[in-house]
Amino acid sequence: MHEQLSSLLAKASTELQSLRTRPELEAAKARYVGPNGELTAVMKQMGTVPKEQRPALGKVVNEHKGRLQALLDDALQRIDASELAARLGPPIDPTLPSPDDGPGTFHPLTLVQEELCRILRKIGFTVADGPEVETEFYCFDALNTAPDHPARHAQDTFYFPASARFRNISKHTPEERYLLRTHTSSVQVRTMLKGPPPIRIVSPGRVYRRDTTDASHSANFHQIECLYVDRNVTVRDLKALLDHLFEALLGPGTKTRFRPHYFGYTEPSFEVDLSARHLPKVNKEWIEIGGCGMVDPEVFKAVGYDPEVWTGYAFGMGIERLAMTLYGIDDIRLFYQNDLRFLNQFSKGL
Ligand code: DAH
Repeated sequence: MHEQLSSLLAKASTELQSLRTRPELEAAKARYVGPNGELTAVMKQMGTVPKEQRPALGKVVNEHKGRLQALLDDALQRIDASELAARLGPPIDPTLPSPDDGPGTFHPLTLVQEELCRILRKIGFTVADGPEVETEFYCFDALNTAPDHPARHAQDTFYFPASARFRNISKHTPEERYLLRTHTSSVQVRTMLKGPPPIRIVSPGRVYRRDTTDASHSANFHQIECLYVDRNVTVRDLKALLDHLFEALLGPGTKTRFRPHYFGYTEPSFEVDLSARHLPKVNKEWIEIGGCGMVDPEVFKAVGYDPEVWTGYAFGMGIERLAMTLYGIDDIRLFYQNDLRFLNQFSKGL
């Protein structure tokens, strides 16, 4: 019986190594350890062995059975691994060049934002940054926007719960609430509180309003804010700056106009329209693009500037609206969908 067992194991060991597929393995298993298998047949002979030899022989049989099982397990593992390798396909060489068509491109909103900053930097503006989480003081109070103003209404503005804490965002008073900024005008206040005039900043960034999304509205969009504070600043300076900015961005033939309006933080205040009929997709004469005006004395008082000495202008506008005009895009949602078919169209830059 000993010999039977060792020759069975030797045969199994060569045979199992040549197996390549699961059905082959199942058949081999049946041949050796199934009800009619070879090992099973040897084990059945145990009944014919004299009683006193049975324990020793039983041990030998069990050892062989264990070794056979190990061979079967190895075969299964090998087949598993080769099946997985077949599914994964040929090995990848990570040192080969990428199959993509080269480096990524700037997002159209980034292109427009960067171009606006570039034009403004050239004429002395510095880029200033401000937090997207703001407090009521910076977003409204210091900007002479009363507590009953609609923009402060819970339905217009994303407030954080009273328990929210942001260690890196300074509050002006302990009891004021945190919110997502509704406009970049809050950066005006943070900048002015940092030091005395003259100030000449541009601040691009994300803003948030409770708006239902459609082709021309998004609860999250981008603005660019400008603030200039110095002695003897006039509306004429403001108009000249906007004329220059839009002409530099959209080309010769671009015109701007002011319409009287109300903003708490400027007096007088205007809405700015631009005309760029030379752009291929523009079919309206005037497109409303932002708000502006002369900094209200109340704002200067809130930041500790003497309104008798200092004067200034400010303006803010939506970047999406400008990018849509420039590129002839008719749905604001395209900016946020990350669809490469859309984004790749801007690979040549502005
Ligand atoms: N903050 C205004 C808005 O979001 C835009 C604006 C108007 C900004 C007048 C200004 C300004 O700086 O002076 O609609």
